[in-house]
Amino acid sequence: MATSFPVDQIKVLLLENIHETAHDIIRSAGFQVESISKALPEEELALKLRDVHILGIRSKTQVTDRALQGARRLLTIGCFCIGTNHVDLPAANRRGVPVFNAPFSNTRSVAELIIGEIVMLARRLFDRSSELHQGRWRKVSTGAVEVRGKTVGIVGYGHIGSQVGVLAESLGMRVLFHDISSRLPMGNNTPVASLPELLQNSDFVTLHVPETPQTRDLIGAEELLMMRKGALLLNASRGSVVSIPALAEALKSGHVGGAAVDVYPEEPEQNDDAFLTPLRGLANVILTPHIGGSTGEAQAAIGREVSATLLKFVNSGATTGAVNFPQAELQPMKNTHRILNVHRNVPGVLRDINRIIADCNANIHSQVLTTDSSVGYLIMDLDQDVSNEVKKTIAALETDIKTRILY
Ligand code: NAI
Repeated sequence: MATSFPVDQIKVLLLENIHETAHDIIRSAGFQVESISKALPEEELALKLRDVHILGIRSKTQVTDRALQGARRLLTIGCFCIGTNHVDLPAANRRGVPVFNAPFSNTRSVAELIIGEIVMLARRLFDRSSELHQGRWRKVSTGAVEVRGKTVGIVGYGHIGSQVGVLAESLGMRVLFHDISSRLPMGNNTPVASLPELLQNSDFVTLHVPETPQTRDLIGAEELLMMRKGALLLNASRGSVVSIPALAEALKSGHVGGAAVDVYPEEPEQNDDAFLTPLRGLANVILTPHIGGSTGEAQAAIGREVSATLLKFVNSGATTGAVNFPQAELQPMKNTHRILNVHRNVPGVLRDINRIIADCNANIHSQVLTTDSSVGYLIMDLDQDVSNEVKKTIAALETDIKTRILY
């Protein structure tokens, strides 16, 4: 694979105890790695970033516009987590710095939690266990059922939803799903045309949609009433998807037979902060503090996925999966040099670049240009003998943000 300069000169700063899998992958690529176990405050981060090519963070480091101001060498930022709200994405974009995350590394962890909770709700296990913890023996099994032969309705059949479908079917459950996009059914999972149809025909309803204006209060009083009497609801998607007051009412009335909730409209910032919800103390309700995707395996997968993406970007320029940047990827070509150019997205840039190439008598072997509203990103494979001259002249253009060459 090509590299932009001697690999041992590439400096990587990994903050917040990023998983060992990431350290191993990045070190084995030959890069210098500095690891700090905590998040850095803005000033300290800004100072460090003056000298760093790759920054890796988890969810606590705030990467602000100010922290990025002096980061002239910074090529890319890897968020070894799911969310990217703590990074000023437009500020990184303007500086030609793509930001990557790992949105699907914890898919299996969430799906397994849902399967476990389906069984726990069916057997009212949580209430029985709580009673014993309180020193009360209550050997009651009213309403306890097997899940085999029951129907689970999955709302949102993406990464997690479809995994839940596969696992549920292996337990002998019937699986219905509803998605606004057409999705290939796994096994015997069966699509239904509408949310009401799914709600009316399921013993368990599990939600796996993203947070969008359309999914806000997707499940409110009306939808809860459409569910079968005694059916069970699971939400490990986003807190805004279910109206919690409506769910509390439906549970109190007995129309909904129980619930497992992992996500809430408002979640505390810190561990040990107080947390109050109308669902507290209700029968057959499992409450968990947004830990659906939190497992050792998910952390290891995040470490592997994000570090592999960062290496791919540094060594080939691929921006597929970047959350703030035009997406482009080009198969590396033999006997060429690759120029990677980020420029302000204003009219005439490609014309200027093509003129430079013509003036240098360079032969383009392959080229891809993608843009967003503020920047354009060009990957271009050229003859080796003129590549340095072309790179220098492109980098001198007034519209240039960042240009580098891979040998
Ligand atoms: P995904 O993007 O792979 O799948 C979401 C699916 O929902 C897509 O197929 C989409 O077409 C569908 N969808 C969107 N709007 C819909 C609507 N109004 N009605 C029906 N279907 C709709 O997402 P993924 O990875 O499966 O994640 C699902 C949810 O789980 C997300 O909200 C994510 O934030 C959450 N999540 C929660 C975790 C936790 O710790 N509890 C961990 C990981 C993800």
